[in-house]
Amino acid sequence: MKELTQAIIGQVVAGNYRTAGIFTKFGIDFCCKGNRSIEEACRQKNIDPAAVATALEAVLARQDDSDVRYDSWPLSVLINHILQRHHQYVTTQIPVLQVYLRKLCSVHGKEHPELEEIRQLFDETASELIMHMKKEELVLFPFIQQLAETSSTTPGIHAFGKLGGPVEAMMHDHDQEGERFRKIASLSHDYTPPPEGCTTYKVTYAMLKEFEEDLHLHIHLENNILFPKALQIEGGSCSYRPPIHNQSF
Ligand SMILES: [Fe+2]
Ligand SMILES: [Fe+2]
Repeated sequence: MKELTQAIIGQVVAGNYRTAGIFTKFGIDFCCKGNRSIEEACRQKNIDPAAVATALEAVLARQDDSDVRYDSWPLSVLINHILQRHHQYVTTQIPVLQVYLRKLCSVHGKEHPELEEIRQLFDETASELIMHMKKEELVLFPFIQQLAETSSTTPGIHAFGKLGGPVEAMMHDHDQEGERFRKIASLSHDYTPPPEGCTTYKVTYAMLKEFEEDLHLHIHLENNILFPKALQIEGGSCSYRPPIHNQSF
C-alpha cells in the first residue's frame, strides 16, 4: 500500500488505463498533472492516500475471464454474474467516458472532427444501453429466474411461449449496439490515438476498446448461453437471426 501511494500517477495510468477512472473519481488530474506521486496529489487535495490506493488495488486485481466455463453455471448464477460484472461495469463507465469524450472534443475537436461523431455515437449507446439493461433487470431476468426455479421444483410446469418475443427484442438491441461500436472502432482507427495525443486521448481510446470487448462478452453470455438455456427450459423458441456481420456474438 505504501509503495503504491509513492507511485507516479502518469506511470500508474500508463501501466493500466483502467486506473484513470479511479483518479477521476477522486478529482485527481492524471493527464496534465500526472507527474506527481499519488501521495503528493492527495496531500494537495486533502484526500486520504490509502483510500485511493485501496480503490486502485481493486482495479488492478481485476482478472481475465477467458477460461471460465460459463455454460456450466446454473442460470441464477449466470444472471447474477451478468448483473454484477457487466451491467455494473457499463453503468460506471458510461458517465466517465462521456466526460472524457466531451473534454477531447473541446480540446482536439478542430483537428480531429471524428471525435464529435464518436461522442455522438457513444451518447446514443449511453441512453439505449441503459434502457436495454433496465428491461433485462426489471422484466426479462426475473422472469427467467422464476422459470428456472419453477422448473427445478415442479418439473413440467412451464410458461410456454412467453420468452420468444422479449428475447428477440433484446437480440435486436444487441445487434444495434454491436453495429454502433463497429462505427466507433472504424472512426477511431481501431482505438489508435494520434502520436501527439495527450494522456486523456490514450486513456479514452483504451477505455472505449475495453468497453467494446466487455460488450462482446456480455452479449455472448446472453445471446449464446442465457437465452438459449431459458428457451430450452420453457420449451419455446426464438426465430431471430442476426445480420451476417454480427454472428460472432
Ligand atoms: Fe445485459
Ligand atoms: Fe442485453
